[in-house]
Amino acid sequence: MSRPTLYISRLLPNPVMTAAQQQFQLVNEPRDISPSWDAVKAGLHEAEAAICTLTDRVDASILADVPRLKVLANYAVGYDNIDLAAATKQGIIVTNTPDVLTESTADLTWALMLAVARRVAEGDAYVRSGAWPGWAPTQMLGADVSGKVLGIVGMGRIGQAVARRAAGFNMRICHSSRSTRAPGHFPVLWEQRALSDLLRDSDFVSIHVPLADNTRHLIGHDQLALMKPTAFLINTSRGPVLDEAALVGALLQRRLAGAGLDVFEQEPECHPVLRDLRQVVLLPHLGSATLATRVRMGMICLENIVAVFAGIPAPNQVT
Ligand code: DGY
Repeated sequence: MSRPTLYISRLLPNPVMTAAQQQFQLVNEPRDISPSWDAVKAGLHEAEAAICTLTDRVDASILADVPRLKVLANYAVGYDNIDLAAATKQGIIVTNTPDVLTESTADLTWALMLAVARRVAEGDAYVRSGAWPGWAPTQMLGADVSGKVLGIVGMGRIGQAVARRAAGFNMRICHSSRSTRAPGHFPVLWEQRALSDLLRDSDFVSIHVPLADNTRHLIGHDQLALMKPTAFLINTSRGPVLDEAALVGALLQRRLAGAGLDVFEQEPECHPVLRDLRQVVLLPHLGSATLATRVRMGMICLENIVAVFAGIPAPNQVT
């Protein structure tokens, strides 16, 4: 029996590529660079199944001409890159990769919190420069993380995983979420607050909402104005949730102590001023970037595709 045809938009870790080649007939040779929109269009036109990544814009005009495509597995938990309504209209099943990247992304969120508060990247650059004169009582003083208030915007899987890690830092947690959530008690107490109250009270604010029409620029000039000048903002969700220009304004005017950003409004670009600010730490969208997690994400994509061809419900269909 012939194997179903599969388009993979980007080269995935080896174990995933091997498993994909065993089970499917690949319509392309995925490369380690972002494909053009035309290449994605051509690939989706050929295939019965596809694995796309968050950098592939799968819009309605692509989806209007995919005669064989049954399932589109997005190699990410977020699927804002896909026009879900258009896919659904064409009867295409769209899936994502929840759960497997929760812990990696929460770890990276903490890496950013600690890095901005304790000036880790700046200190590393100082030692490498050869200009460090040695220990001094007033050198590179940062801010404490332990015992502070952590505000989590979006208390889904990743938000909760970030909150759990705060137990070891004796922090107080508050969160803002669209749905009402009972207070969490283990291993830290967390309480739900209005977003404006959370922004006013928190020493660290960490963003964990998906990108959608109602979360685009959720944190903009007015929201940043509520934050303490000693507070730090962390974003590991999606760049457009945060108004980058408004953030730059707040940082330049010292209305905010610093920011840790793993995502940007126009990736791979970032606001040029950010590169010059010592009080920010910038990462190239590394939230899920561990080998184990990226392999699991790929295997989940394949499991979902296999399920569709077996005629059973895809475990991670998004609707
Ligand atoms: C996701 O899955 O949405 C992440 O951003 C991928 O790294």
